[in-house]
Amino acid sequence: MTDDDPDAGTAVRRDRFAGGPARGFMSSLAADQRLFAADLAVDRAHVVMLAEQGIVSDADAATILAALDNVEAAGHGALSSGEDVHEAIETAVIEHVGDVGGRMHTARSRNDEVAACIRYRLRADLLATIDVVNEVREALLDAAALHVDTVMPGYTHLQPAQPITVGHWLAGYEQALARDAERLCGVYDRVNRSPLGAAAFAGTTFDINRERTAELLGFVDPETAEPLLVDNTIDAVSGRDVLLETAGALTALAVTCSGIAEDLVLYANRGLVELDDDYASTSSIMPQKKNPDSLELVRAVAGDAAGAFQGVATTLKGLPRAYNRDLQRVGPHVWTALAKVTETLAVAGGAVTTATWDEAALETAAAEGFSTATGVADLLTQSGVPFRTAHEVVASAAEAVATGNNASGLTSGENQNDAGNAVKPLADDAVVQALDNATQDQLGQSIATLVDPDDLAAALDPTGSAASRGSRGGPAPAAVRESLDRAHSRYNENLAATRLRQDAVESATNRLDAAVNEYTSGEQDA
Ligand code: ARG
Repeated sequence: MTDDDPDAGTAVRRDRFAGGPARGFMSSLAADQRLFAADLAVDRAHVVMLAEQGIVSDADAATILAALDNVEAAGHGALSSGEDVHEAIETAVIEHVGDVGGRMHTARSRNDEVAACIRYRLRADLLATIDVVNEVREALLDAAALHVDTVMPGYTHLQPAQPITVGHWLAGYEQALARDAERLCGVYDRVNRSPLGAAAFAGTTFDINRERTAELLGFVDPETAEPLLVDNTIDAVSGRDVLLETAGALTALAVTCSGIAEDLVLYANRGLVELDDDYASTSSIMPQKKNPDSLELVRAVAGDAAGAFQGVATTLKGLPRAYNRDLQRVGPHVWTALAKVTETLAVAGGAVTTATWDEAALETAAAEGFSTATGVADLLTQSGVPFRTAHEVVASAAEAVATGNNASGLTSGENQNDAGNAVKPLADDAVVQALDNATQDQLGQSIATLVDPDDLAAALDPTGSAASRGSRGGPAPAAVRESLDRAHSRYNENLAATRLRQDAVESATNRLDAAVNEYTSGEQDA
């Protein structure tokens, strides 16, 4: 504002903006509905600790804890006002029991309170999402076991590349989801630390017991039950990197789902698989259409998740320590991503495990585009030809097949191998003929002198081709069965790790209830 500003010093702007938009703008009360139950738990643990430490009297603690029960019963919708759920709950407690309610906020700040609420709620959300990932993994493992022998085309650059099996493809996505589950579990272990007791950011003069509130809220090592803290009080209130990595892990999960979706869109488009009607849409005008809409939406949600990650990262980037109000806008990105990605995962899992694979179409497609070429090159290499030479021989045969330039006569049965013995006749087949021509051109001998024609026929057959790639983790049915055994073990380990964490949270809930009861049941007796 300068001296020649005509409005300088007048009330004009003040009038225009008085009682203005900032109050509502600053409030997070509506979005905080997600934190309502978490805040009640954090309040209860804090009050119990204050009483145990002699910072508030047992009687005052009992009064406040009883008021919190009333606030809980009335629900988030009954909260009247406030910048956020934390302030509104405190106000409601004071409304219920008068000034004594004002003791609840002793030795804490909304800064450590909100950080504790976020971590408390996020823990439950992460466990719920991990559960869905594990359900989809189990369904994929079951589907893979059914399709260990179902041959299908494998693609690179969207072109037929090498025959694989449906079981191999399904097991590949289960393995990716295993990483997603492990990633979310790793994030969980960093979320599962208590910031409570950091107060505004610089600790407190009161003799609080941070380990105790951590224990009451289940911020404990799931194996040893040792309390876990975000030790440094500045970091405790400021650090939201756990929200960033949650958004990152959800983005990775959504990207896995988008891959499943895109593959299925492609396979359905090529007539290799049919989606269950629940996962498809019809056209409002074209009667013949069955569109893979659910999968297209799954594909799109990866964009939402990446957007949430970007929202969190750009909000946090360059924020000074300690608390800044920007932090209020970080959580909602993650809450939205959690809901959207978890729903999407269930849809992707449902679509892939209810789809019907057309085995005849898959086998035909698996033979297209000379997709067995690599196996033939391997066979020639096993006969002693250097791989690079074998690659060239098969490449020129592939070109001849593609251009129809493979008409010369078969060399068939007149061939002799190095020992001078006659070899078996080659099959009367255009591809075999092209291979024989190329071998004669480049190596000066018939392919029948190098490889057994029966082995060649097996290598050219998509089923035989997939079956021959039995290296660890490969598509051969035996290799896939072994992979599935390992995948089951990993799945069971992951499931046990998740259960352990769920049990730790559940026992903490019981511990907190029991601790609260120590005060409130006494109040009822009195
Ligand atoms: N609603 C706020 C948030 O979500 C709570 C913390 C408020 N603290 C403050 N210093 N204004 O971050």
